[in-house]
Amino acid sequence: MSVVASVLYGREDIRRRIEELGRTITGDYEGRAPVLISVLKGGSMFLADLVREVRLPVSVDYMSISRYGGAAESMGRVRIVKDLDEDIGGRHVLIVEDIVDTGLTLSYLINVLESRGPASVEIVALLDRSVRRIAPLEIRYRGFDCPDVFVVGYGLDYGERYRNLPDILAVQDVQALAEDPDALLPYLTEAPSVPPEGDPVG
Ligand code: IMP
Ligand code: MG
Repeated sequence: MSVVASVLYGREDIRRRIEELGRTITGDYEGRAPVLISVLKGGSMFLADLVREVRLPVSVDYMSISRYGGAAESMGRVRIVKDLDEDIGGRHVLIVEDIVDTGLTLSYLINVLESRGPASVEIVALLDRSVRRIAPLEIRYRGFDCPDVFVVGYGLDYGERYRNLPDILAVQDVQALAEDPDALLPYLTEAPSVPPEGDPVG
């Protein structure tokens, strides 16, 4: 039997990288109060962890969008299902995304947000799958350069499943997952791939 999926970025790698991103953002935005915006639902976990590593008086806001079909067929056009609560006019905006793939959704969203007169708009993406990019985008902060493979976990879903996986998995056999959507459930209960140091053996 072939492997359906394997850990691509473990929880500890993710935690450490977010800590670094938070430190960089804290330095870059010193003296300012940026608003971190997450696009539901995938980016919400990343935002929750990132915001606690940013030592600035930030605010947090959420947006929910719905696509007309797939990203490519809709050319990124989306319908805003839930808009921001706050006015972003004059604000420094940081869009927090789980993964930037074709970039179509995000470039459309940036146009929408730019039209509201913010002081600045930058992107923070945990994963940048740049090989599939269609719409050119400048990603100011990136967690990891993601290979061309479908990923789940840490907010990323497969048919609304697996957002709660602590690690990010690369799905090698998408067909097997389609046939058995429960195939990755063992990863929900499995211990961390690297046990904490000093743990007694046996
Ligand atoms: P795009 O950049 O417009 O193509 O769309 C990116 C969005 O599609 C992301 O914010 C995710 O919600 C979703 N997405 C893209 N690739 C993956 C993946 O590998 N796993 C899960 N969701 C994905
Ligand atoms: Mg998303």
